[in-house]
Amino acid sequence: MKKTTFFLLLAVTITGCVERITAFSPRRTNTEAHRQADSNRDCLSCHNVAEQRHHQPGDDCLNCHKLAYGGIR
Ligand code: HEC
Ligand code: HEC
Repeated sequence: MKKTTFFLLLAVTITGCVERITAFSPRRTNTEAHRQADSNRDCLSCHNVAEQRHHQPGDDCLNCHKLAYGGIR
């Protein structure tokens, strides 16, 4: 691999980990609770975002954390 390509990929990877990029956000597992939850208040009743890096209670949870495909329960 060419050196420049390598460093470009490295830069993108590091940015992706440090910045919150919507498309890279982990999806909500397709559980009953996650299918029902449709507001920040619902999310916050189970997830303490104060302990979560880069998260604030006023964030738009649903915009980033889409529901995963396929139910598991
Ligand atoms: C009834 C409690 C409950 C509610 C409400 C809830 N969650 Fe969860 N969530 C869980 C539990 C338990 C887990 C871990 C086990 C699992 O994945 O099912 C989890 C896992 C997650 C994960 C991690 C998935 C992974 O791949 O590690 C994300 C992201 C998430 N929830 C986001 C949300 C968002 C956003 C909302 C609001 C729309 C929400 N949750 C509402 C209980 C809840
Ligand atoms: C701008 C996009 C964005 C918003 C808005 C956002 N998140 Fe996240 N969230 C992420 C990313 C990216 C991660 C991956 C871990 C990290 O680096 O913070 C994450 C991680 C998580 C995890 C941990 C998943 C795991 O596997 O440990 C939970 C739970 C979670 N977010 C819940 C929430 C809740 C609840 C809200 C609303 C208050 C919210 N998020 C708002 C992008 C976002």
